[in-house]
Amino acid sequence: MYYIGVDLGTSAVKLLLMDQDGKIMNIVSKEYPLYFPHPGWSEQKPEDWYTQVMAGIKELIKDVDKSQVAGISFGGQMHGLVILDENDEVIRPAILWNDGRTTKECDYLNNVIGKEKLSMYTANISFTGFTAPKILWVKNNEPENFARIQKIMLPKDYIAYKLSGVHCTDVSDASGMLVFDVKNRCWSKEMCEICGITVDQLARVYESYETVGTVLPEIAEELGIPQSCKVVAGAGDNAAAAVGTGTVGDGNCNISLGTSGTIFISSKNFGVDKFNALHAFAHADGHYHLMGCMLSAASCNKWWMDEIIGTKDYAKEQKEIEKLGENHVYFLPYLMGERSPINDPLARGTFIGLTMDSTRADMTQAVLEGVAFALRDSFEVAKALGIKIERTKICGGGAKSPLWKKMIANILNVKVDVIESEEGPALGGAMLAAVANGEFQSVEEAAKKIVKIIDTVEPEPELVEKYEARYAQYKEIYPACKELFRKIL
Ligand code: XUL
Repeated sequence: MYYIGVDLGTSAVKLLLMDQDGKIMNIVSKEYPLYFPHPGWSEQKPEDWYTQVMAGIKELIKDVDKSQVAGISFGGQMHGLVILDENDEVIRPAILWNDGRTTKECDYLNNVIGKEKLSMYTANISFTGFTAPKILWVKNNEPENFARIQKIMLPKDYIAYKLSGVHCTDVSDASGMLVFDVKNRCWSKEMCEICGITVDQLARVYESYETVGTVLPEIAEELGIPQSCKVVAGAGDNAAAAVGTGTVGDGNCNISLGTSGTIFISSKNFGVDKFNALHAFAHADGHYHLMGCMLSAASCNKWWMDEIIGTKDYAKEQKEIEKLGENHVYFLPYLMGERSPINDPLARGTFIGLTMDSTRADMTQAVLEGVAFALRDSFEVAKALGIKIERTKICGGGAKSPLWKKMIANILNVKVDVIESEEGPALGGAMLAAVANGEFQSVEEAAKKIVKIIDTVEPEPELVEKYEARYAQYKEIYPACKELFRKIL
């Protein structure tokens, strides 16, 4: 049997084909455009996602026995608002997780409704990227669109709907909407009322490893796969990545270095960070997790390489970097504002500490280190909650860089376990489909059998000490710039 994992990312969709034993048979990636209609806004067209998912699946399975494709599931970029009309047509482009337009709506939710109530109803507070403030934004700014909404969906759920005809979502992705009661794994009636919507306008919620239906006959025909092929709910990309890296059960950690950067800590029990700096969400393994999310991680390096210095040879640029722990150039990675832990949509990217002898390599190093320092900020919040993290897995595009992994091991002072496949969400999606089809008893069993650690990057005491001093300096930069960011809009 074969299982397809669809990682619906921000720059591209990655599709992975896995057999019933967890062996990866093929990987395909298809890009689609990202629109920034105003500074700080970020949109995509759900139709583009669907076109590229279908093209990608065709390419993915072209050389295998298609009659053996038994399940499809997902890891999807979280929080994006997809709204459908009475004919299930998309009303407007999706407003994405890294869109910062909802400052006013967040102020209303956090300060008028109040953080305490939000936390009581949903276990979280409002961040600009979350879905509820986006619903309010459409209500306040596009009332004619708001009036036409029949269904509110998340990005990957739109694809599941197109494939199966079922309006569905899963507990992990629903957690990031701020209309979901995370502890009890159901929609919050109070939050629906606050957003001016009804529970009927939301999709039915499944556990990530549950089957929502089978592929529609026309989809089966177009792809050449059996009509019995299951469509399985899947998970938000971070929960799916955690499944794909074996970060399930209690007290395990995964770092994802994708467009966003996340620290994900799995937990068997429900728990909330009392300052709500970390998100408290449901996990795809049936339990819970805490997560810190920075809005620009590997995307900072991509921006610096592609847009500014104009190269595609990332490895060559990184080869020039030698003085770890000694760089006096710093970079704040806030190119899209920032979520965890500072929650400041107006924060901006900054280089600081340049001198006449600063080199291109120093600046590249500052970008990589800046992302690792910003991850450490969320890591510190987790530590302050009493969570002990001695080791972490890592995945995402940035995880391909040995240098970045070394920086993370030493800046966070943790062991970084390198796994055989760093495919994260796409592998996690395929594993969820296999669990739904009975190949494994549970998500935890699938993780135990499929995920293999092949190496560990150990922190080096001398370097840890050097970076400790650098981090202390880094920490002073954002507070010093914060008010200035408000003036240079
Ligand atoms: C998580 C988040 C991002 C997106 C990226 O809260 O916003 O990690 O899911 O795809």
